[in-house]
Amino acid sequence: MLSLIRRGLLLAPLFLACVAAAPAPDPGQPQYDAEGRMQFPADYRTWVFLSSGLNMSYSPDKAMADHDMFGNTFVPAAAYAVFQKTGHWPDKTVILLENRGGTGQGSINRRGLFQTTQYMGAEAHVKDDARFRGGWAFFAFDAAGAPAREIPHAASCYACHQQHAAVDTTFVQFYPTLLPTATRLKTLSPSYLAESAPSSGH
Ligand code: HEC
Repeated sequence: MLSLIRRGLLLAPLFLACVAAAPAPDPGQPQYDAEGRMQFPADYRTWVFLSSGLNMSYSPDKAMADHDMFGNTFVPAAAYAVFQKTGHWPDKTVILLENRGGTGQGSINRRGLFQTTQYMGAEAHVKDDARFRGGWAFFAFDAAGAPAREIPHAASCYACHQQHAAVDTTFVQFYPTLLPTATRLKTLSPSYLAESAPSSGH
């Protein structure tokens, strides 16, 4: 009897510690490994699709790449729902930009481009207020499945997104189901509004 109680007393804290150490991770929220690298969000293809860009480029001086590439953007359903209500992203939002090869050659296609199975890397834009200076950070996943290090805040990613992105340093002006919400709820950034003012007359 005494030994049972003693065993129970010993096991109870151990059991509680196990439960506390292994909460079911929310697949829509950023997960990090012991080295602080972000885990690749393996299920991002089940998230809400924001949009695709084809051969988008932001530097006028660089020659066009010799290949076609689509960028597909996804966000977890919970974060998407908050944005549609508030016009802002909640803490722990992950927006994933997947790059994929494009081609015109295949099957019965005669004109136009479609996406191929060629994975060309992915980038994540992550809001984690307690973790990142300014609340947001970028990660680049060269290999699908492998964890990625935080991109240093001196990188050009941060400056361009800060200066030109429409909402919370994310490029909502390129996501057609979000831009009307941000416009209606007046969450567009002053810099974006100033930038887009000359063409707003029509
Ligand atoms: C010169 C401006 C510019 C720079 C520099 C830049 N981006 Fe972007 N980024 C964009 C634009 C425009 C979009 C929206 C269009 C698209 O989806 O490609 C975007 C979208 C994204 C998105 C989708 C989420 C969001 O915030 O809208 C991610 C993730 C992203 N960029 C990561 C990066 C990373 C990582 C770097 C640095 C290695 C970087 N970007 C550098 C302009 C830039």
